[in-house]
Amino acid sequence: MKEVISPERIQARVAELAQEIKADHQGHDLLLVGILKGAFIFLSDLARQLGEEVEIDFVRLASYGSGMQSSGEIRLTKDLELELNGRTVLVVEDIVDTGLTLKWFVDHLRDRGVQDVKICALIDKPERREIKLDLDYVGFEIPSGFLVGYGLDYGEKYRGLPGIYELEL
Ligand code: IMP
Ligand code: MG
Repeated sequence: MKEVISPERIQARVAELAQEIKADHQGHDLLLVGILKGAFIFLSDLARQLGEEVEIDFVRLASYGSGMQSSGEIRLTKDLELELNGRTVLVVEDIVDTGLTLKWFVDHLRDRGVQDVKICALIDKPERREIKLDLDYVGFEIPSGFLVGYGLDYGEKYRGLPGIYELEL
């Protein structure tokens, strides 16, 4: 396992992202929606940087298909609990790979009356994108490799590591 992003670099970048998000949403109460399970650590660090204004909710999405590849056929296995109508939602995701999971979820939120949907992803793997998707805030761009740590898993392991590591499979 090789370190790709150190814990210190992650923390510094999360603080920068929070400053950008704050500057863009002055006075508007944001609803952060974390996609479980991978985004739970990123969301908790981001929320602590954003401070008092934010509300927090979570969803869990399941993609049919094998463990490491998205199929684009998504279903909600844990739904949101807060009111969405007319809100500004910042979707917080660990990593965007093909983009199929997030594309489905963004469309789903719009169908449910969310006024403004923004995306904040810790890691973007743009070379793997299969559909067009605009990411509003990105922590790091990493071209390839299977990553674990800081919420990201391989077979439910490694989520608790403080940095991001590439797994040699
Ligand atoms: P997408 O629909 O292909 O963009 O899939 C994104 C989801 O796949 C992420 O939210 C992760 O849960 C998972 N995923 C994609 N790449 C990795 C990786 O390198 N490590 C761990 N999980 C990943
Ligand atoms: Mg995920």
